[in-house]
This record gives sequence, structure tokens and C-alpha cells, in this order.
Amino acid sequence: MAFTDSEPVRLTIKDRSGNVRNIEIPGDAEYNLMEVLKTFSYKMRATCGGMGLCADCHCKIVDGLDRLPEPGWQELETLDVIPDATPRSRLSCQLMPGRYLQGISLELLGADHY
Ligand code: FES
Repeated sequence: MAFTDSEPVRLTIKDRSGNVRNIEIPGDAEYNLMEVLKTFSYKMRATCGGMGLCADCHCKIVDGLDRLPEPGWQELETLDVIPDATPRSRLSCQLMPGRYLQGISLELLGADHY
């Protein structure tokens, strides 16, 4: 059976308190992963509103990094100025839901307060 974009995508999320949770998101959601995570009650300050500028949605891709699209120039510029960024860092606001996220495991690192 072929995978369709509307099928759920399963992710593993480790929050800032160390709690790990498996979630399913719509594979064809029309908003970015940061916004999707907010719908699961993960707090995201998201000062820039998802423009890749503030790094409040900074996350570490624990598993599946090789399946993600390459970061764009704005994401790279922002990651370049985050003191705790590593080669596994991404900005969840710059990732759109899709089948490439299937099985991804990530850890939330950015700011969660308002
Ligand atoms: S919400 Fe600001 S960089 Fe992602």
C-alpha cells in the first residue's frame, strides 16, 4: 500500500523537562512543524512568528536528520548565532509536515516562556 501525504506522520518528541512522547501529525498539514507542535500543547514563544529569526523553536534532531531537506539560508544564519547549536540543530518553524518526517525523533531546546 502506498503512503499518501494525508496519512499521519509519527514523531517522537522530548520536551524541555525530559518527557518523551510519541505523537501523530497530519502529513499534509499546511502549517509548519513549530505550529503543529503548539497544537500538542508544547510551549513555543516563537517571537518571530515562524520566520526563522528568533530560534525559539530550536530543536535537536536525535534521529532522522539525514531525511530532512537542507536548511535554507535564513535558517542557517539563525542557527549560526545560537550558542548551543550543533550539527543536529534545526528550527521547527522551517520544517513543513510531510512524509520525510516519519519516525523523526527530536528534542525541544528553544525558549518556551512568553
Ligand atoms: S519561531 Fe522564530 S525561528 Fe522559529
